[in-house]
Amino acid sequence: MDRNLALEFVRITEAAAIASARWLGRGKSDEADQAAVDAMRKAFDSVNVDGTVVIGEGERDEAPMLYIGEKVGAKLVGAPQIDIALDPLEGTSICANGGVGAISVIAVAEKGKFLHAPDTYMDKVAVGPKGVGAVGIDKTPTENIKAVAEKLGKSVDEVTVIILDRPRHEDLIREVRELGSRIRLISDGDVSAAIATADDDSGIDLMLGIGGAPEGVIAAAAMKCVGGDFQGKLKFRNDGERERAIKMGVTNPEKSFMLGDLASGPVMFVATGVTDGPFLEGVRFMSGHRAKTYSTVMRSKSGTTRQVEAHHKLDIKPL
Ligand code: FBP
Repeated sequence: MDRNLALEFVRITEAAAIASARWLGRGKSDEADQAAVDAMRKAFDSVNVDGTVVIGEGERDEAPMLYIGEKVGAKLVGAPQIDIALDPLEGTSICANGGVGAISVIAVAEKGKFLHAPDTYMDKVAVGPKGVGAVGIDKTPTENIKAVAEKLGKSVDEVTVIILDRPRHEDLIREVRELGSRIRLISDGDVSAAIATADDDSGIDLMLGIGGAPEGVIAAAAMKCVGGDFQGKLKFRNDGERERAIKMGVTNPEKSFMLGDLASGPVMFVATGVTDGPFLEGVRFMSGHRAKTYSTVMRSKSGTTRQVEAHHKLDIKPL
């Protein structure tokens, strides 16, 4: 994959982030999401790739744009064939409520290298590079926390675990509290949460808990780029979801998926902040029809992570 592509993709997440950021705090998640989808879909036309959306907005019959299987990109001669995992607005409620950590995100891999995860849940564990080798999706939360503490040279009460604030995590939260570790509860946005484990300054050591399976694949791509770890296990709500997974090519739905099962080969990860979050600042609208965006661009091949601060003149180039 051409490394310049990564910088092309950042223009796409910037466009989606700016479009959705106009809806910040206005209490309208659907409108915020739609604005991001429209902007991302349009921006794809200007990038010369022959892309297939493998993680997207949903099935073709339920999502008119950026649906699973949709072909995107300019597809001119020589366009590389790639698979794309995307979320134009990860954290729709965060954006609607003006909360913390909404991002617009695209991950890219060679054809067939992302798990085609159905729209179900996934039990997840994520750690940054310093915790690699310590965690496992089949270990108990207590085992994972103790192993991370040992690997990081901390006591368990110095370990901070980030967890989605959901009733389904009642037992998990109780177990972590009984062990004496610290917890950062978040309302939404477990892609940002996973990535935060790789950032020393975030103060977060480990992510645990159940979130969306498509978001799991996107987070795995990011963790591969930063040299961290991410593992997951699909959690189906009913037999229909399990059958759907099999239909999408998941041969063993009960499998414990390692990082390489979720995202293999060279991958790229690009994200732009919509609202201020643990690893990216959100869109700033400034006087004179200008906007500032903050993005990250990562490539697993080189391990390089770039922070891109872009200044947009919206009167010259409306996004
Ligand atoms: P959306 O952007 O689709 O709203 O997803 C936000 C999110 O919090 C994800 O980060 C997470 O994986 C998932 O929702 C959790 O699902 P649920 O809200 O059903 O618990």
